[in-house]
Amino acid sequence: MNEAPAPQGRHTRGRVRLVAGGAITVVTAVASVVVATLAHADLSGPPGTTLKAAAERSGRYFGAAMGGDRLGDSGFLTIANREFDMMTAVNEMKPDATEPNRGQFTFGAGDAIYNWAVQHGMRVRGHTLAWHAQQPRFWGSLSGSALRQAMIDHINGVMAHYKGKLAYWDVVNEAFAENGSRRSSNLQSTGNDWIEVAFRAARAADPSVKLCYNDYNIENWSYAKTQGVYNMIRDFKSRGVPIDCVGLQTHFTGGSSLPSNFQTTLSSFAALDVDVALTEADVTNASPAQYQGLTQACTSVPRCVGITTWGIRDSDSWRGSENPLLFDRNSNAKPAYSAVVNALNAATTTVPGSSTPPSSPSTPSTPPSTPPSTPPVTGQPGACTATYRTTGSWGGGFQGEVTVTNNGSATLTGWTVNLTLASGQSLVNLWNGINSGGSGAISVRNAAYNGSLGAGASTTFGFVANGSSSTAPGDISCTSP
Ligand code: G3I
Repeated sequence: MNEAPAPQGRHTRGRVRLVAGGAITVVTAVASVVVATLAHADLSGPPGTTLKAAAERSGRYFGAAMGGDRLGDSGFLTIANREFDMMTAVNEMKPDATEPNRGQFTFGAGDAIYNWAVQHGMRVRGHTLAWHAQQPRFWGSLSGSALRQAMIDHINGVMAHYKGKLAYWDVVNEAFAENGSRRSSNLQSTGNDWIEVAFRAARAADPSVKLCYNDYNIENWSYAKTQGVYNMIRDFKSRGVPIDCVGLQTHFTGGSSLPSNFQTTLSSFAALDVDVALTEADVTNASPAQYQGLTQACTSVPRCVGITTWGIRDSDSWRGSENPLLFDRNSNAKPAYSAVVNALNAATTTVPGSSTPPSSPSTPSTPPSTPPSTPPVTGQPGACTATYRTTGSWGGGFQGEVTVTNNGSATLTGWTVNLTLASGQSLVNLWNGINSGGSGAISVRNAAYNGSLGAGASTTFGFVANGSSSTAPGDISCTSP
């Protein structure tokens, strides 16, 4: 079993600049983008050739953790953009980073990661609100009800800032000891109910985000700590304490390894009506067999919503000497990468709610004898329409979103949107669709997972572009086969 993760200080501190697809952009505020939508699961589709594409087949995500210094690391960003659809900040959303002094909240570092992630089509996992480590210094001089109140104030302050923007929050991190009892800490000393107080405050602060308990060494079902956490979740559920998910850090490093009963652990937690996720995965020497096993354990449990690795390349790892990640120091995929992609593609379960089958194709029982006199506004010869809105802008760039709606009565099996970018505008990145062309007249067709649109249904794709947002893309139209 692992020792408690030791504080690390080995991450290289680089010059911070924000790089998006080769263009340097300056982002000053949290982009006004709501959480990107979950992929539509389709196990019959072609195998995914990236981590995220393979995960999305079954409605799952594949995430990574990044520190703010990686925003200036084009090698990291290239892989992140290509392979991942969920992001966690390594340190930048933790209590010491977000509230260094009482009531003085600082979100610049967290926002920079958040903005980069959403501008590249990712969702974001918040990490973390209440923890015995990386606390604001002023918590150290508080105790009892004063510390309890400081924790609640912190949760309210941070969650208000990210309200409606995150997919998950690790509300409480690592609150259990190896023997299954509560870890002793200043927070624990405020009373045994501190964890449920944190979750109740979190639910009130942002009802839209899923609230998680996150810990390490809870992967082995027969381990005391696993049972301690399990009993707490079961108790919370029985008493109506709001909790939506359990994060299993899955650090199979530092002497720990994949237990044979990992799937049992995941399915046992899931049976308590919580999502489960592997939140900080890494494996000593990136054993392909262990990576394959941990992935298969997740994809075999419907409520296992995704896997996050703690970094991308071995050079990003908090345990870099164990070379525990899926990419080497030269950004090359390691054998474990293929093991994970293959295991994701072999998923046999989909995440509940991600695979709502499109309503069965219906053809009008009596086909109209004459064409309708009023054709759809756009989208001939199909029945789809496309509308555009700008969701955020900054000096030299903007983010846009196009909503594709099936206005007809039959299910569409695919769609293509044509639009014209104004002079000086060029695409940096596009998600939830496949584009041809990057400036002037471009066309975007559906991705593998969002082409099927039932009657009245809609989907969106988004993009980031260089150039001024003052002229909206024009000549927008939608067609379907
Ligand atoms: O930023 C300072 C720098 O200014 C200073 O010169 C340097 C001197 O040591 O320290 C730097 O801060 C370090 C920080 O990482 C940023 O690199 C801290 O000392 C160091 O303690 C901190 O370590 C982080 C650790 O959590 C703290 O517990 C690791 O980066 C981070 O990867 C790790 O993440 C945790 C998860 O949150 C929870 N699960 C375990 C996981 C791994 O330990």
